[in-house]
Amino acid sequence: MEKAVIVYKSKYGAAKKYALWLEEMTGYKCIDLENIKNIKLQDCDTIILFSGIYASTIAGLSILKSQKDKQLIIFATGASPYDEDNLKIIREHNLSGNLSNIPLFYGQGQWLDSKLKFVDKTMAKLIYKSLEKKDDKDLEPWMKALLSAYGKDVDWTNRSYLEPLLNYLKGEQYGC
Ligand SMILES: Cc1cc2nc3c(=O)[nH]c(=O)nc-3n(C[C@H](O)[C@H](O)[C@H](O)COP(=O)(O)O)c2cc1C
Repeated sequence: MEKAVIVYKSKYGAAKKYALWLEEMTGYKCIDLENIKNIKLQDCDTIILFSGIYASTIAGLSILKSQKDKQLIIFATGASPYDEDNLKIIREHNLSGNLSNIPLFYGQGQWLDSKLKFVDKTMAKLIYKSLEKKDDKDLEPWMKALLSAYGKDVDWTNRSYLEPLLNYLKGEQYGC
C-alpha cells in the first residue's frame, strides 16, 4: 500500500475510535471528513472510510463516490453485533455504482443515549416504539441491540473488530 489515508465520519465517537485505533496500528494519517479539504487526496492511492450507520445508511459515502483510480475501503459501525446477513443488507442498501464491489468491514459501535442529539433522540424513540411491537423472530440483530440499549449508554467497540481489515491490508483475500 503506497499511500493510504483514513477518513472518518462519526456523530457519537465509535467510527472515530476505530479510525484512531487503525492509525495507531498502521501509521496511516487519520482525518475527520469535516477537514478533508486540508489534505491532497490525489496523492493517496487508498482511502479507508470509517463511518456510522444511521437508519440503515452509511454516512459520508459521497466522498468515495467521486473518487477514481483509487482503492476504496469502508469500515462501518452500527448497533448490531457482527452478522454476515446484516452486512449483506447494509451493502445492498448503500453500495452501488463505483462502490458496488468494494471491501466492506464492520465493527459494533456504541449507543450513547445520554448524548443523542435532539433529532436522533426523536428518531430513536420512533424506531424503539415500532420495534417494541414486533415479534422477536422478526427482529434483525441491530434491532435487538437497539432495544436492549435504549435509554442506556453502552459501548460495544473492540479493537478485535479491526483484525479482518488489518489482514486485508496485509494482502489477504477479501471474502465478503
Ligand atoms: C438515530 C439512529 C439510528 C440508528 N440506526 C442504526 C441502524 O439502522 N443500524 C445499526 O446497526 N445501527 C444504528 N444506529 C446505531 C449507530 O450506528 C451506532 O450508535 C454507531 O456507534 C454510530 O457511529 P458513531 O458512534 O461513530 O456516530 C443508529 C443510531 C442512531 C442514533
